[in-house]
Amino acid sequence: MNIPNIIIAVDGYSSTGKSTFAKLIAKTYSFLYLDSGALYRAVTLFALENTLIHENAEIEVDALEQSLSSLDVHFEYVDGQSMTFIGDRCVETEIRTLKVSNYVSPIATVPQVRNFVDSKLHEFGKNGRIVMDGRDIGTTVFPNAELKLFMVAGNQIRAMRRYDEMVAKGQHPEFEEVMKNLKERDYIDSHRETSPLRQAEDAIILDNSYLTMENQMAWLEMVLKNKFDI
Ligand code: CDP
Repeated sequence: MNIPNIIIAVDGYSSTGKSTFAKLIAKTYSFLYLDSGALYRAVTLFALENTLIHENAEIEVDALEQSLSSLDVHFEYVDGQSMTFIGDRCVETEIRTLKVSNYVSPIATVPQVRNFVDSKLHEFGKNGRIVMDGRDIGTTVFPNAELKLFMVAGNQIRAMRRYDEMVAKGQHPEFEEVMKNLKERDYIDSHRETSPLRQAEDAIILDNSYLTMENQMAWLEMVLKNKFDI
């Protein structure tokens, strides 16, 4: 299917499979995939390593803001996979640990951090034909995106998916901890003052609780055909 050079925004709750879906869309239709959550996670890792966030989640906002101007966070393709880098260090694995997950949502409430990530996304996506996943892509980052999807799934299903993903990576999380983190992030993400997680008015909801990847791609193809007359 020949898809025009549109922007596709995939927003939604934690662990609803946004990135898996967005990556597959990128691969299928030759789009550039941008993972906005990875940028928030990289800033969080940086803040943890430089004691700019404390154990009680208190943030050294001024110092963090100052460091952002020289923080080189970007994506590089390694063996055909988009990986997150800080300078020349690949941080893809470290940013997915429960420790980073536990501090990322507080970090993502900081307006200066949001501006930093938004400007990176605009810079990386300036040539269009991009699919991005996050929380505020369709509402704030690219409000003119031609296609906006909003993904939801049941709590138990989401926590199980994230648990399995972590186990497959050799981590040893407690299921209850994973569930707790997911709920906490959902709450902080949807209640923060700057760009809270919410469905854009023109977004299409996809509840993928009981859908396979093939089901999802077939659903998307139908949406694209209807919307763009292709
Ligand atoms: O764990 P999951 O893949 O669902 O989350 P993620 O996409 O890696 O995002 C991690 C965290 O970054 C979220 O829980 C939000 O706090 C924050 N985030 C955000 O505030 N805005 C975005 N556009 C993307 C992520």
